Amino acid sequence: MKHLKLTFLTVLCMGIVMFLAGPVCAAVTGECSNCHTMHNSQNGNHMMINVDIDGTSGGSHGGGYPSLTRGSCVGCHTGPNTAGSTHPYVYDTGAVNYGFDTLAGGNFKWVVTDDAKGHNVKGIPGMSADTLLVAPGDGGLAAGCTSSCHSTLFAPVDGAALNTGCEGCHLEPKHHAPRQLAGTPALKANGYFRFLSGHDTGSGSGVEGIEDDDWQFTNDMGDHNEYLGNAVDTHAATNTRGFAANGNTMTGFCTGCHGTFHTQLDGNANWIRHPSDAVLPSTGEYANYTTYDPDVPVARPDLTTIPEGGIGVAAGTDMVMCLSCHRAHGSPYDDMLRWDYSGMVAGNGGSFSGTGCFTCHSEKD
Ligand code: HEC
Ligand code: HEC
Ligand code: HEC
Ligand code: HEC
Ligand code: HEC
Ligand code: HEC
Repeated sequence: MKHLKLTFLTVLCMGIVMFLAGPVCAAVTGECSNCHTMHNSQNGNHMMINVDIDGTSGGSHGGGYPSLTRGSCVGCHTGPNTAGSTHPYVYDTGAVNYGFDTLAGGNFKWVVTDDAKGHNVKGIPGMSADTLLVAPGDGGLAAGCTSSCHSTLFAPVDGAALNTGCEGCHLEPKHHAPRQLAGTPALKANGYFRFLSGHDTGSGSGVEGIEDDDWQFTNDMGDHNEYLGNAVDTHAATNTRGFAANGNTMTGFCTGCHGTFHTQLDGNANWIRHPSDAVLPSTGEYANYTTYDPDVPVARPDLTTIPEGGIGVAAGTDMVMCLSCHRAHGSPYDDMLRWDYSGMVAGNGGSFSGTGCFTCHSEKD
C-alpha cells in the first residue's frame, strides 16, 4: 500500500512538472516532528544537547540546533548507504567499502583516524582538528581577503564569526527547496549544486552542476554528476591569478578557501602547479580520454548542452579540475585523493593502468 502511494505521488509530481515546466517536488517529505522539535523539550527534559554550539558541553544557548532540527547535520547524515535510499550518508561508524557504499564526496570515516584522509570538520564524533594543516595549503589568501578567513573547519560554532563544520561548505542548505529537475543545472533558488555556496554576495557565489539522483551510489559512464568549469587559464596565457573570480564552478568553490595556493602558471606560461580548469589538449595523450569515468571526473564549459545521463569526454573542450583527483569529504587515501597515488608508477601501471593519473596521461602508463 505504502508503495502504491509513493508511486502515485511520483506520477503526480511528474505530471505537474510537465505542465509547469519547473521543479515542484520537495526534496524532504514527511511529518514535521520526524525532523523538527519546537522546544527541544519532552516531559520537561532536553531532547538532545548540542555540544558544538559553543565548544563547551551543554552549550550556553541551551543546546538546540538551528532551524529547530532534531539533530545536527552530522546526526542526520551518519549511517550506511544502501541501494535505493533517499537519505545520503557522508559518515559511517561501521565498516565502509570505498566506491561501493560511499557517495560522490567519499566518506569522513577515514579522517577520524588520519588527518590526511580528508577535511577535518567540527561535529563528527571522535574527530579532532588537523594537526598539520591549519591554513588551507600554503596559506595563500583568496583575492580580496586580508586574513585567512577559512584556516579551519573545526572552530566552535559560536566561537567564530564564520561558518565552520559542514556549513563551512554547505553554507545555506535548502532541504525544503524543490528538487532540481533531472538533467538540468542546479539553481540558486534550490540551493545550488548540493547546497554548496561561498560568500553570499551576488553571482559567482554558488556551485552549478547537475545532480545525480542517488549521489553516485551507483555510477558509470552514463550515470554521474556533472560539474561546471571555466577555462580561464590557457597554456598560452601569462595568467598567474588566483581563482576568486571563477564563476559558479567547482574549482572556484574550492579555491574560495584554498586561494592563491593553486597559482598555476609562471610568467612564461609554464605550469608550476598542476592546473585545474585547464582544457584537456585535443592532441597527444590527452585525446585518449573519451569515455567518462566517474572516478576521474572532468568539468564542462556549458551544462545546458549536456543530455541527461551525460556524454563522453571531449578533449579540446572539457577540463581537469580539483575533483578530478580529490574527493570532497574524505577517502582511504592520503590527501583525500580519489585513488591510490602510490600505484601510479610511470612505465609500469600494472593493475592501475588506465586509472587515476593514467586516465589523462595515457602515455605515461
Ligand atoms: C526529513 C526531514 C524534514 C521534515 C520531515 C521536515 N523538515 Fe523542515 N527542515 C529540515 C532540515 C534538515 C532543515 C534545516 C536546514 C534547511 O533549511 O535546509 C529544515 C528547515 C526548515 C525551516 C527553515 C528553512 C526554510 O526552508 O524555511 C522551516 C520553516 C521548516 N523546516 C519547516 C518544516 C515544517 C513546517 C515541516 C512539516 C510540514 C517540516 N519542516 C518537515 C528537515 C525536515
Ligand atoms: C533532520 C535530518 C537532517 C538534518 C538535520 C540535515 N539533513 Fe541534509 N538531508 C536530509 C535528507 C533526508 C536529505 C535527502 C533529501 C533529498 O532527497 O534530496 C538531505 C540532503 C542533504 C544534501 C544533498 C542535497 C542534494 O542536492 O542532493 C546535503 C548537501 C545536505 N543534506 C547537507 C546538510 C547539512 C550541511 C546539514 C546541517 C546544516 C544537514 N544536511 C542537516 C536530512 C537532514
Ligand atoms: C570552507 C573552506 C574550505 C573549502 C571550501 C575547501 N577546503 Fe579544503 N581544506 C580546508 C582546510 C581548513 C583544510 C586544512 C585542514 C583539514 O585538512 O581539514 C583543507 C585541506 C584540504 C586538503 C588536504 C587534506 C589533508 O589533510 O591532507 C585537500 C586535498 C583539500 N582541502 C581539497 C579541497 C577541495 C578539492 C575542495 C573543493 C571541493 C576544498 N578543499 C574546499 C578548507 C576548505
Ligand atoms: C570542504 C567542503 C565540504 C565540507 C566541509 C562538507 N562538504 Fe558535503 N559536499 C562537498 C562537495 C564539494 C560535495 C559534492 C561532491 C561531489 O559531487 O563530488 C558534497 C556533497 C555532500 C552531500 C551529497 C552526497 C555526496 O557525497 O555527494 C551531502 C549529503 C553532504 N555533502 C553533507 C555534508 C555533511 C553532513 C558535512 C559535515 C559532516 C559536509 N557535507 C561537509 C563539500 C563539503
Ligand atoms: C592532477 C591531480 C590534482 C588536481 C587536479 C588537484 N590536486 Fe590537490 N593534490 C594532488 C596530489 C597528488 C596531492 C598530494 C601532494 C602532492 O603530490 O603535491 C595534492 C595535495 C593537495 C593539498 C594538500 C597540500 C599540502 O600542503 O599537504 C591541497 C590543499 C590540495 N591538493 C588542494 C587542491 C585544490 C584546491 C585543487 C583545485 C584547485 C586541487 N588540489 C587539484 C592532486 C591534484
Ligand atoms: C582529468 C585529467 C587529468 C588527470 C586525472 C591528471 N592530469 Fe596532469 N594534466 C592534465 C592537463 C589537461 C594538463 C595540462 C596539459 C597542457 O596544457 O599541455 C596536465 C599537466 C600535467 C603536468 C605538467 C605537464 C606540462 O606540460 O608542464 C604534470 C607533470 C601532470 N599533469 C601530472 C599529473 C599527475 C602526476 C597526475 C595524477 C596525480 C595527473 N597529472 C592527473 C590533465 C590531467
